[in-house]
Amino acid sequence: MNNNYFTENTNFYGSTSPKELLMEYGSPLYVYNEKILRQRCREMADLVTYPNFKANFSIKANSNIELLKIVHSEGLYADAMSPGEIYVLLKAGFKPEEIFYVSNNVSEEEMKFAIERGIITSVDSLSQLRQFGRLNPGGKVAIRFNPGIGAGHHEKVVTGGKKTKFGINPEYIDEVKSILKEYSLKLVGVNQHIGSLFMEPESYIESTKYILGIAEQFEDLDFIDFGGGFGIPYRKQEGQQRLDLAYLGEKLDDIMDKWTDKYGKKVFFKTEPGRYIVAECGVLLGTVYSVKQNNGICFVGTDIGFNVLIRPAMYDSHHDIEVYKNASATAKEYKTVTVVGNICESGDIIAKDRLLPQLEEGDIIGVMDAGAYGYSMSSNYNNRLRPAEVLIKENGTAVLIRRRDTLEDLLRNYEIK
Ligand code: LLP
Repeated sequence: MNNNYFTENTNFYGSTSPKELLMEYGSPLYVYNEKILRQRCREMADLVTYPNFKANFSIKANSNIELLKIVHSEGLYADAMSPGEIYVLLKAGFKPEEIFYVSNNVSEEEMKFAIERGIITSVDSLSQLRQFGRLNPGGKVAIRFNPGIGAGHHEKVVTGGKKTKFGINPEYIDEVKSILKEYSLKLVGVNQHIGSLFMEPESYIESTKYILGIAEQFEDLDFIDFGGGFGIPYRKQEGQQRLDLAYLGEKLDDIMDKWTDKYGKKVFFKTEPGRYIVAECGVLLGTVYSVKQNNGICFVGTDIGFNVLIRPAMYDSHHDIEVYKNASATAKEYKTVTVVGNICESGDIIAKDRLLPQLEEGDIIGVMDAGAYGYSMSSNYNNRLRPAEVLIKENGTAVLIRRRDTLEDLLRNYEIK
């Protein structure tokens, strides 16, 4: 298969090219495609036909304000995990009632931040429910339960089941009820999140039955939130299939219809997709600066360190790599290489033992599906500058949506005496 098939097929770079983009905005560079972002928003918004349904974009995956504005214009609501995320969402134009604060172990100040702005907050421990009650007696609250079932691409991102810090276990429902009563709180919603990245719909479907079983133990709920975790095919170059959304949506519709008939109220149902919305609209471009042979391994050295994209180093995640050369390499010029970054740790690996068109100094590579948990998890480790972010608009032109860090930015918070 042509190594550049994904970006060619989608006309990802519009009227520009990787080379032009790096010349204009520097390397490395996050590039997002508006058309793909809108398409993914629509797929999530139209997941089911049940009328009272909303997809809440989980902005931890990518909180660039320009992307948030696009997501908002597609009619999605949003989830926030911190006051910082709430702040950015409000700046992007989301109204308080369009934001759901899914808190975890937060201070009184952080909880107050949401309460004062009229943002519905979910708590996920008895301690935090009491704290909420003290701060906002008589208020509306949501509770995150542990669905007892987990899923995910790595144990670090499984958030349901027996080994996770998240959610209240259903065995504490009686205590939950007595705290709600003690502080005259109204439970308006229940939520869950089983984990990040499932490609088979079954675990998600199972978990919805579980949370619905919990929900029916409470009267007069306004909403039930099934959580996120919708996976994307990171191995497109190997022909990996997409998550079957049609099947998943059909099953969810059936479950929601039956449940609301039984409950006697057409509650609102929500999901919390993060990755699905933004992963595929983002490519991380970088430049090759060295190619060397060390003890039988061919290392391709680039400027994409794990400060820029941490997923491969942190979770051994796979990202397809495209190679942009002046002339397209033919199959016999392919070579198995390990692509690394410029951070002083040997775990600074982007792609291990990967068969790629032969690379030379000056070539450009594209790390695919980098729009989710890419920039949002980037850092200044090694005092490196975080890259710029560029959007390829629907008309094919590129606009800068966040500038690259400068050296002065590195000193911004110091109190230099
Ligand atoms: N809702 C809650 C409560 C969450 O904790 C998360 C993700 C989401 C929704 C969105 O999950 P998604 O649809 O994106 O899978 N950094 C990891 C993923 C961590 C996910 C954390 N929670 C990665 O790069 O794979």
